[in-house]
Amino acid sequence: MASATATYGQKESSDQNFDYMFKILIIGNSSVGKTSFLFRYADDSFTPAFVSTVGIDFKVKTIYRNDKRIKLQIWDTAGQERYRTITTAYYRGAMGFILMYDITNEDSFNAVQDWATQIKTYSWDNAQVLLVGNKCDMDDERVVSGDRARQLSDHLGFEFFEASAKDNINVKQTFERLVDIICEKMSDSLDNVDPAVTGVKQGPQLTEQATPPRQDCAC
Ligand code: GTP
Ligand code: MG
Repeated sequence: MASATATYGQKESSDQNFDYMFKILIIGNSSVGKTSFLFRYADDSFTPAFVSTVGIDFKVKTIYRNDKRIKLQIWDTAGQERYRTITTAYYRGAMGFILMYDITNEDSFNAVQDWATQIKTYSWDNAQVLLVGNKCDMDDERVVSGDRARQLSDHLGFEFFEASAKDNINVKQTFERLVDIICEKMSDSLDNVDPAVTGVKQGPQLTEQATPPRQDCAC
């Protein structure tokens, strides 16, 4: 794990002032933009250079949703096949997944089904998944249409966003929607859920349903 990010995580993890902690994983083929997406969300930064992730890394971000302070532990996984054994070990206990492909890369879209199978195989049954087509700023190089992606997301039962880490399109919305879906699911089944898995820390439980506006692709 890169030390800079680990330090960031440690600093934040000393902050115990939160209502819920959600573990979220970003998965998908190499170079689709997972690390860029996380850096855009956590640091509001973007670099055009490609430094492929080795293994797995994480960042922590605390947000307010539905009057609750929610601490997100966001894991950025390596897309390269050779790290698969390491990365799938982190699926367990994840409450949400961002499954990412690149709208300019057919292979990355064709791999979505396999990634969904990995989630089914290695994660908690109630884990929520959002499908994200990244790099929608590169519309002139698009090879995956929004319609095809929507069809697949319907088939898989995932919500779908197109986004751009580069132009900061739908990045925050993706995370917030995923958090809201997790909250809705939790609120539906809280009685049956193991707190060790949910990261529910204390007393107050979510009783109000979030009704967030659907953020459509701005591409
Ligand atoms: P692995 O760590 O190997 O799994 O790759 P990754 O999915 O983390 O990809 P990464 O975030 O490193 O991005 C790969 C390349 O795509 C980099 O050169 C990024 O600058 C570029 N990139 C990422 N997101 C976008 C985007 O939204 N638009 C454009 N145009 N380029 C992007
Ligand atoms: Mg990466």
